[in-house]
Amino acid sequence: LEPQSKTLPTTKEKHIHVELGDRSYKIIVSGSEVTNATQAIVRMADQILDVLSDLTHAVILGDEAVASSVSEPLERELSGRKIRVSAAQIPSGETSKSVAELARLWEWMLSAGVDRRSVVIAIGGGVTGDLAGFAAATYARGLRVVQIPTTLLSMVDSSVGGKTGINLPGAKNMVGAFWQPSLVIADSITLNTLPDREYVSGLAEVIKYGVIEDPDFFHWLEVNIQSLICRDSGALREAISRSCESKARVVGDDERETSGRRAILNYGHTFAHAIEATAGYGQLLHGEAVAIGMQMAASLAIALGRADQNLLDRQTRLLVQSNLPIKFPEANVPGMLEIMRRDKKVEYGKLRFVLPTKIGHVELVGNIDESHVVAAIQAHV
Ligand code: NAD
Ligand code: GLY
Repeated sequence: LEPQSKTLPTTKEKHIHVELGDRSYKIIVSGSEVTNATQAIVRMADQILDVLSDLTHAVILGDEAVASSVSEPLERELSGRKIRVSAAQIPSGETSKSVAELARLWEWMLSAGVDRRSVVIAIGGGVTGDLAGFAAATYARGLRVVQIPTTLLSMVDSSVGGKTGINLPGAKNMVGAFWQPSLVIADSITLNTLPDREYVSGLAEVIKYGVIEDPDFFHWLEVNIQSLICRDSGALREAISRSCESKARVVGDDERETSGRRAILNYGHTFAHAIEATAGYGQLLHGEAVAIGMQMAASLAIALGRADQNLLDRQTRLLVQSNLPIKFPEANVPGMLEIMRRDKKVEYGKLRFVLPTKIGHVELVGNIDESHVVAAIQAHV
């Protein structure tokens, strides 16, 4: 008989395969089948060792907000299994995605004796995942990395797909690398300490997947949104895994964003980036800006005759039920246009947007006149 893996999926644990040839990996979505945090940490260590059976040196890079709940218990658990562990904390917040913080990590990794067999374990939200992922991509020309996302946004978006990087002053995510993880563990038990506003903000990205490429999931969300708001563990597992399946399909088709397919993940984001930049970074959480941006994008699609009002009505209902904002009364329209003209999707000076045609389908649309964009913003102030 073959020895049984300790991490065979139970009926309540989902394994999602990200198909990228020799860079393929799995996402494990779990949460409710253990009753306490200690069991969850033991399970995480099992899951890591099941995939990385040659692990001898774990390099834990964790957001300070989850140090006592996740990083330190995992450090103790792995140490107890005779694995050498080096651990460093990353200060919470977007400012950690900086050249200075990256350089600090590189120097620390050198002093900690990190080598090419070491495995980075990134624990935290998108900030930690992006920074630690990029440190892993660059140190010693590339180390394996396990992503353990601890915000809803990072579980459904940033931990999957291999985009890593840091910001330059005035240019977000400007320096980075595609560096796929070896494993992603999204355990909803880690969300127990996440503030409500951060949690709700992550729901915007969840809803996005329904609009861009999964109409059945959108319908599921319409039926189950109240359970999701209450963080019901079964509903959460379903929402996280279906979001990850959606992202895995898109990334599997267009890993490096060359065909245009991956750009659909940016539905609502051209407006959102302009909202975030003109409101002053930090005023609105990213998911909040994405919610408003999806409303503006849907209105733009309707004005161009590409979608009908019913799409906007269904999207509005779901966003409102989720307690997400849908209006941006402080909109500085000229300022937003200025930012949008610098968007990566601009082609030959004309704005391009990801626009829906129906729930479950979007297209990248170019050659859009600015007057339509202005009207779409003004429809949601
Ligand atoms: P974040 O990492 O800043 O986390 C949000 C806040 O929650 C922080 O204050 C953090 O300290 C705290 N936190 C994290 N986990 C917690 C927990 N379990 N309990 C309590 N507090 C916790 O932000 P985010 O929303 O997770 O990610 C945003 C970042 O992700 C941005 O930098 C964005 O550029 C990036 N991003 C990357 C991708 C990608 O594909 N790589 C995709 C989307 C977003
Ligand atoms: N968050 C967009 C992407 O991963 O491509």
